[in-house]
Amino acid sequence: MKDLFIAAMVLLASAQSFAQDRGLEVFSRNCMVCHQEKGEGMPGFAPKLAGTLVNRSKTEAGRRYFAQLVVSGMMGPIISGGEKFNAAMPSFSTLSNEDIVAVLGYVLGELNGASNEAHVTAEDVSAARRQVMSPVMVHRLRDR
Ligand code: HEC
Repeated sequence: MKDLFIAAMVLLASAQSFAQDRGLEVFSRNCMVCHQEKGEGMPGFAPKLAGTLVNRSKTEAGRRYFAQLVVSGMMGPIISGGEKFNAAMPSFSTLSNEDIVAVLGYVLGELNGASNEAHVTAEDVSAARRQVMSPVMVHRLRDR
C-alpha cells in the first residue's frame, strides 16, 4: 500500500514536471522570439510577460482574456509596466489545446509565480475556440 502511494506520488510529480517542460518548450518555439528568453519583452514592441500578469491570472475574466489572446491574437494600444505598446500579437490557433494550456501554465506559473488555481484550463481554451474573435475584439477584453 505504501509502495503504491509512493509510486503514485512519483508519477504525479513526473507528470507535473513533464507539463512544465512542455510549457517551456512551446514557449521557446513560439513566443521567445518576441517576448524573449525570460519573458523580459522587447521595449517598444512586445510587452514583458514576467511579473506583469499575476493580477489578471487571479480573475476569470483575466484567464478568459489569456486563452482568447493566444487563440485569436490581439491588436491595439496597451500599457504594461508603465510602458506603452501598440503592435500585434499573432494568433496561435494552430497549437493544440494541451500546448496552449502548457505554455500559459509556464508563463503564469514560472514567469509570474501564479498559483495552480490561477491557471488557464483546457475548458478556457475550448471556450475561446468556440468564439474566435478579431484581434481588435480581444484588445477590448484587456481592461487597459
Ligand atoms: C511576433 C511577436 C510575438 C509573438 C511570436 C508572441 N507574441 Fe505575445 N504579444 C506580442 C505583442 C506585440 C503583444 C502586445 C499586443 C498589443 O499591443 O496589443 C503581445 C501580448 C501578449 C500578452 C498580453 C500581455 C498583457 O500585458 O496583457 C501575452 C500574455 C502574450 N503576448 C503571450 C504570448 C505567448 C504565450 C506567445 C507564444 C505562444 C506569444 N505571446 C507570442 C507579440 C508576440
